[in-house]
Amino acid sequence: MTYKQVYDAAQADPEKFWLQAAGAIDWFKKPTRALDDSNAPLYQWYSDGVMNTCYNALDRHVMAGRGEQTAIIYDSPITGTKDKITYADLTTRVARLAGALQQRGISKGDRVLIYMPMVPEALEAMLACSRIGAIHSVVFGGFAANELAVRIDDATPKAIIAASCGIEPNRVVEYKPLMDGAIDIASHKPDFTVVLQRPQSIAPLKDGFDFEWHAFQQDAAPAECEPMQGNDPLYILYTSGTTGQPKGVIRDNAGHAVALHWTMKNIYNVDAGDVFWAASDVGWVVGHSYICYGPLLAGATAVLFEGKPVGTPDAGTFWRVIEEHKVVSMFTAPTAFRAIKREDPEGAYVRKYDLSSLRVLYLAGERADSDTIIWAQNQLGVPVIDHWWQTEIGYPAVAIPMGLEQMPVKPGAAGVAMPGFDIQVLDDGGHQVPAGEMGAIAIKLPLPPGTLPGLWNAEQRFRKSYLEAFPGYYETGDAGMIDEDGYVYIMARTDDVINVAGHRLSTGAMEEVLSCHPDVAECAVIGVADALKGQLPLGLLCLNAGTVKTHGEIVAECIKLVREKIGPVAAFKLACVVDRLPKTRSGKVLRGTMAKIADGAEWKLPATIDDPEVLVEISTALQATGYALNKS
Ligand code: COA
Ligand code: AMP
Repeated sequence: MTYKQVYDAAQADPEKFWLQAAGAIDWFKKPTRALDDSNAPLYQWYSDGVMNTCYNALDRHVMAGRGEQTAIIYDSPITGTKDKITYADLTTRVARLAGALQQRGISKGDRVLIYMPMVPEALEAMLACSRIGAIHSVVFGGFAANELAVRIDDATPKAIIAASCGIEPNRVVEYKPLMDGAIDIASHKPDFTVVLQRPQSIAPLKDGFDFEWHAFQQDAAPAECEPMQGNDPLYILYTSGTTGQPKGVIRDNAGHAVALHWTMKNIYNVDAGDVFWAASDVGWVVGHSYICYGPLLAGATAVLFEGKPVGTPDAGTFWRVIEEHKVVSMFTAPTAFRAIKREDPEGAYVRKYDLSSLRVLYLAGERADSDTIIWAQNQLGVPVIDHWWQTEIGYPAVAIPMGLEQMPVKPGAAGVAMPGFDIQVLDDGGHQVPAGEMGAIAIKLPLPPGTLPGLWNAEQRFRKSYLEAFPGYYETGDAGMIDEDGYVYIMARTDDVINVAGHRLSTGAMEEVLSCHPDVAECAVIGVADALKGQLPLGLLCLNAGTVKTHGEIVAECIKLVREKIGPVAAFKLACVVDRLPKTRSGKVLRGTMAKIADGAEWKLPATIDDPEVLVEISTALQATGYALNKS
């Protein structure tokens, strides 16, 4: 079938399409219907079906004779470690950990927070939770204790599973003190923690509260797979919104399993036994969907890479992994390729390796610039496919479905809408704009299976953030256009979210931190263009009268504060002091205009501006940071 036939079939009869797709996974009890719209505009999928995600990711492959196939290839240039874990071994390990968690009182519906670096045990912890129906919430290692505490208070986990440390090229990141600090700050206290001691840093453990990973599960009986209703939550993954309070995106069990399984073949063209590599981190949605669940649901082999595109040890590390493990499909963020291109513009490292196994490179997480795409295409000699999705959506909503039809790629476009996604571009009044015109990217409800059914404990926020701007649609927070052939172009965010090295960050959260500095009266954080990371946050600080410290001292303290409160991942290293912020007459800070000035892009004087002079002052202040290239 062609892409168009499949897309049209999903539009014409979604019920039939998604029930058919559901046949690809194993059920304890098959669902009688796909969509439950009884509580629209909140939707559920496969709610009367009964299944288990871990069973579908592990046990069923073992039963089908794939037990000896490698499930996970762990490749860690940063520690000099490699390992291969078969489906049979992984099932045994996961069942034992799950049994130990059960023994300690974790059961269906309980939350378990996971704070781990890129080690196989992180995937084991996720799968062990899903085996017994516990809801996992993985937190990215680059966040500080305070961010961890916010997530502990929101998810109220019974247990935390952590590693003693993560390893960055320039330092060992001690996770255990961060976790202890977070537990101290949080009002909610978990019952216990499980700590994987890594040789790079052995953490002191508190008797009866912190359990060492191996000792914890030594005598545990393996756990069976818990029967889960299709709409029972599988995980919560926090993502940045417009405020300091992150949004807890809920993922259900069955919709997620069905949708991810569908994407592995139809989008990524990956079959059971193929080696698939998503060079991301388990802390992000890409890691959830395409390091852990997607490849395993499809019976493929997942690469778990603990390293960086450059410096571990060099710009050839990606190519070494592809050659050594015979990767057929790779997925990463454009930033990773920009980093490699910067160090190896001529591709000398590329030519040192045999990349003949690689069929396609997929890029997502941020806008892919054409220079990077062309460079990657020329160097690798395979199609480079940009595709678009978000934490909320869980898997690609716009892509070129390589397993269905190798449609032409258009420069600047992220592809076409995937089945089940009726993507439209709307003006401020919620009307569809003509092809080729810019507007807000919205998706007609209901969203297909596997997308977010809601936010954890925050139904009103879910409605307000996503459903109210355009009734009958899901608001993506992205702006862009659709051309006459149906190709979707994602251009920018419509909110205060920025994308730094493929990491989604909230400028609002950074502003909240900066406002806590005693000398800061008012502030704004904007995203400015960066050749490597796509965007970088830049803070503009208005100070209280009578401060005794120098501007330099205050800027340095503010940078330190964001690192301490949000974490190094915020990459907040630029700030300057200004007298005033430009505002509209109603008091709204003109962040977008300031970002354009900083980037040297065309900008118009906003009609509603209170005092145009302020923009001149801002421009001068930005010039001093070396960021302003004001052309207008
Ligand atoms: N744990 C602890 N700290 C972390 C971390 C983690 N898991 N991940 C990143 N950090 C730290 C970094 O060490 C860095 O700290 P520093 O300020 O002390 O140097 C900081 O957070 C910022 O990290 P990053 O923005 O990633 O910059 P970098 O200079 O370390 O690396 C790249 C630059 C391009 C190599 C890196 O960003 C990269 O590989 N990007 C690929 C993007 C990606 O995989 N995105 C996932 C979504 S698909
Ligand atoms: P996250 O939820 O962390 O996956 O971030 C999702 C956001 O990243 C999207 O809403 C977009 O703003 C941006 N994004 C992801 N993929 C792309 C892409 N292919 N092109 C442009 N922006 C993208």
